[in-house]
Amino acid sequence: MKKNKRFIPIAFPEISGNEKSYLLNCLKSSWISSKGEYIDRFEEDFARFIGSKYAVSSSNGTTALHLALVAAGIGPGDEVILPDLTFVATANTVKYTGAEPVLVDVNKKSWQINTRLIEGKINKKTKVLLPVHLYGIPSDMKKIMEIAKKYKLTVIEDAAEAHGAKVMMGDVSFKMAGSIGLMGCFSFYANKIITTGEGGMVVTDDRKKADLMKMLRDHGQDPGRHYYHPLIGFNYRMTNLQAALGTAQLERIQKLLNFKSRIAALYTNMLSKVAGIYFPEIPAGTEAVCWLYSVIVDKPYPLSRDVLIKKLKNRGIETRPFFYPMHRLPAYISEESFPAADYLFHHGINLPSGYNLTEGDIKYICAVIKSFSK
Ligand SMILES: Cc1ncc(COP(=O)(O)O)c(C=O)c1O
Repeated sequence: MKKNKRFIPIAFPEISGNEKSYLLNCLKSSWISSKGEYIDRFEEDFARFIGSKYAVSSSNGTTALHLALVAAGIGPGDEVILPDLTFVATANTVKYTGAEPVLVDVNKKSWQINTRLIEGKINKKTKVLLPVHLYGIPSDMKKIMEIAKKYKLTVIEDAAEAHGAKVMMGDVSFKMAGSIGLMGCFSFYANKIITTGEGGMVVTDDRKKADLMKMLRDHGQDPGRHYYHPLIGFNYRMTNLQAALGTAQLERIQKLLNFKSRIAALYTNMLSKVAGIYFPEIPAGTEAVCWLYSVIVDKPYPLSRDVLIKKLKNRGIETRPFFYPMHRLPAYISEESFPAADYLFHHGINLPSGYNLTEGDIKYICAVIKSFSK
């Protein structure tokens, strides 16, 4: 077989702005650990972008979620409701606190937590609703906030994949995903919309929670008294180097989001006539962002999702299947059925969505996908 030299990765960061000069500033000034000007600057800039009062940086998106759950006072005996279809960090961080993750199936059309199934899972132990804006598509936050109010629950948003996604909350006003619940958590892993290499952030309007998370990420240290640790915390601090990257990335976030919207529109346009390729329904009153451009592969498309992944790989196109639903992982195994999450798990595919993607690449990828259809 002729070897195909072309390789289109699933994700690729865009680091062509001030990243290098800000990193050099860190090196020149020797502020390379978790103190330095870029930490405050990145936190302030990110809070402003999201429209929250405070932002607390952390070492990655997983530690951001853990900080938010601990700050919400979650622990053994509590239950946290989250969607079955998500990245494992959402469920694992609940386990870290000693609380129990309670899984809810997703909506087959929007891929987000099925809000009609949430109330059936609420009991006296339930403390937190933890929706995930999966693949950049906003969850139904209006409904989630209504349920939270009715049962006096805290809402923590997992917005790790949804920087810049928006939800209409009033009649006219949009709020950013992550700024609607009590706290919202973001990831800046290298494949995310903006990156710090590894990194995370919690946003909130609650000053006390922000101060508590700043202590918790720093071994519970009292900010006014060196080596006095009234709380058992963690070392979850972001470094100045990470924050330097983040500050530079954030300067161009609108440009980056526009790029992602453009590639999503090109894909949708080119794939819309392929029988058996299906798109998510973006909930009314929301603006999704394209983290990884994702579609469903089903009949009458002649190949299964898994065979399509192999064929694309042979042509130098890297893809991913959707996440394993939590109930299929050994730690969260469940007898309950989650038909929508299972369906999406078997049929969902993430297509290349990196910042190095050209229109030519998208044409090529779509032509390969079309070439198998009758
Ligand atoms: C939905 C979701 N939650 C949490 C995380 C955890 O973020 P990180 O990888 O930065 O720890 C991710 C990361 O990929 C994610 O996709």
